[in-house]
Amino acid sequence: MQYAHITGWGMAVPEPVLTNDDLSKMVETNDAWIRERTGIRERHIARDNEFASTLGVSAALKALEVANLKPGDIDLIICATSSPEYIFPATACLIQDQIGATRAGAFDLSAACSGFIYALNMAAQSIRSGSIKSALVIGAETLSRFVNWKDRSTCILFGDGAGAFVLQASENPGGVLSAVMHSDGSGGDLLSLQGGGSHYPANEETVHEGKHYIHMNGGEVFRFATRVMAQATREALDAAGLTVEQVQWIIPHQANIRIIEAAARGLKLPMERFVVNVDRYGNTSTASIPIAMVEAVEKGQVKSGDKIVMVGFGAGLTWGALAAEWTGPLPVVHRVYPRQYRTVARLRSIWRRIERFIEGLFWGRYE
Ligand code: UT7
Repeated sequence: MQYAHITGWGMAVPEPVLTNDDLSKMVETNDAWIRERTGIRERHIARDNEFASTLGVSAALKALEVANLKPGDIDLIICATSSPEYIFPATACLIQDQIGATRAGAFDLSAACSGFIYALNMAAQSIRSGSIKSALVIGAETLSRFVNWKDRSTCILFGDGAGAFVLQASENPGGVLSAVMHSDGSGGDLLSLQGGGSHYPANEETVHEGKHYIHMNGGEVFRFATRVMAQATREALDAAGLTVEQVQWIIPHQANIRIIEAAARGLKLPMERFVVNVDRYGNTSTASIPIAMVEAVEKGQVKSGDKIVMVGFGAGLTWGALAAEWTGPLPVVHRVYPRQYRTVARLRSIWRRIERFIEGLFWGRYE
């Protein structure tokens, strides 16, 4: 029997910080309103030369370093993202190329802010089935590119960043214990970004109508979120045969402190059992759970052997929760330095293009 253990973790956020006071100079809002209604104080915003893939690469390399794995050891890369770099190729493939994960299959997963839970579950199931031995699961976002900076009901909420986990097979019990995934497409219109897809391909009209921005019915999403967070947590715990009391930490999607407080009330747990960092990053969508998790581990809050539940909700509508026993890195036989492989990856990528050009001269020509 194979278990899927979380053996590496990393996060990356862009340096520039946008505070509530900065926002109050852009739209009619103020620091007190934003803090009281959302719990957010500031968020990080990507520079022009930063993308979902570059943030994802930084987080992934840190996660590989903790797991002591080379990029070439990874069998599968799943990138959960709500702000992919392109419709295709997948951001996961861009990351695969930039880190030189030569053996890995790679794809993006679109389940909005629940995406990291979905992706972690998919990767864990692949490991448990025996089809792969290791996976890199990434949540990477530059949602700031899709925010309407004139819409005060959404522009205050979102931030950019990435988080990554390495999952590895082990015969020792632990790691991912259970997961539940849910959806309700009838609520798809409550939170959407419609422009640029096949229904509304980009043209002057779609740009004029603001279809390339995030649109949200905040109140409805809020009500939905407060309903499902506690419910999904309980379902995942039931599936793992655990009670709420046996769990040391809940790591919720960081969208709004009031939603997290409602989940705490629903689970009859004190807020001290919830990892919260929404104040410093805002809502980073798929990246919010891994970023919160990485900070909790680095602060020494989450320790080896702790039972944890990660729980999220988002556009779709989607929601889900995953229960795990936190393991930490597997024993190190000899140390590897994944970051050193970046230059090799760059050279390899150039070489692959040259190879394809040469191959094209001899093969695949129409007679
Ligand atoms: O990953 C999932 C992503 N989405 C979410 O998690 C969003 C969930 N929803 C929310 O977090 C909240 O609904 C919001 C933070 C978006 C809004 O908070 P709210 O307490 O639901 O406020 P509201 O929409 O009911 O608006 C209350 C008032 C309104 O004024 P009136 O109509 O009562 O005069 C808004 O126009 O607050 C006004 N308002 C603002 N005022 C100052 C809305 N946005 C702002 C703002 N600054 N930024």
